[in-house]
Amino acid sequence: MARLGTSPEPSHAGGDAPAPQHVAIIMDGNGRWAKARGLPRTAGHERGVEALRRTVEAAGDLGIRYLTVFSFSTENWRRPAAEVNTLFGLLKAYVQRDLSRLKQDGVRVRVIGQREGLPPDIAELVDRAERETAANSKFHLTIAFNYGARNEILRATQAYARAIAAGEVSGELTDAGFEQYLDTKDLPDPDLVIRTSGEYRISNFLLWQAAYAELLFVDVLWPDFSKSHLESAISRYHERERRFGALTPGAT
Ligand code: IPE
Ligand code: IPE
Ligand code: MG
Repeated sequence: MARLGTSPEPSHAGGDAPAPQHVAIIMDGNGRWAKARGLPRTAGHERGVEALRRTVEAAGDLGIRYLTVFSFSTENWRRPAAEVNTLFGLLKAYVQRDLSRLKQDGVRVRVIGQREGLPPDIAELVDRAERETAANSKFHLTIAFNYGARNEILRATQAYARAIAAGEVSGELTDAGFEQYLDTKDLPDPDLVIRTSGEYRISNFLLWQAAYAELLFVDVLWPDFSKSHLESAISRYHERERRFGALTPGAT
């Protein structure tokens, strides 16, 4: 195999099978990574940002077009204020430091989650990142920040109710119609959801969108996640058979 990242064509773990179009990751385990080294949790979050940088690059190399990462949940407000502040500061620093390179590399950046409640400087930065990369389409990086799927579904329902009351929409609500009110309205559903750190739960991530995603739980702690873990995740994805409620072709 050509050295990954240097081959002219994206390389795909799993032979000729195309990479999953959309991979979503619950980036978990920063605190345990730090604790295992006698470091403050902050150090784990900092190394988590480096793992994110590696993963964005690796995903592009492997032919993935959409990468969505869970970075801060609506429930993470339950953590001590100092940790919440660190997480906000790291998002800010990541966007400030990486935006121009992401822009140059053709990455479209989106941030999903409740914008309301974000500190104004972060909200402004996020708006700018989205605006300045809006014309890009080579790779789609979506950061779920202050995101919770129940919150998203409630906000979508409220927006739909307002549209009805304003006489802007009528007729029967379909799946596709409802999706127009979700934060992910321009994104395909994830094909593969990976959670690191050995926890077997979804923790309020993409509950609507992941209805038929393949789920993969891996033991590696997020700061240690590397391209080889992503390749192995894609290989395992290729071993799955997606049926979407139908039968395997030829099974009748
Ligand atoms: C993931 O790591 C980052 C966030 C949830 C914000 P954690 O901080 O949850 O790390 P653990 O689960 O305590 O190890
Ligand atoms: C999920 O991780 C949220 C993010 C990775 C941002 P948590 O660490 O918050 O999830 P729980 O509390 O273990 O379910
Ligand atoms: Mg955790």
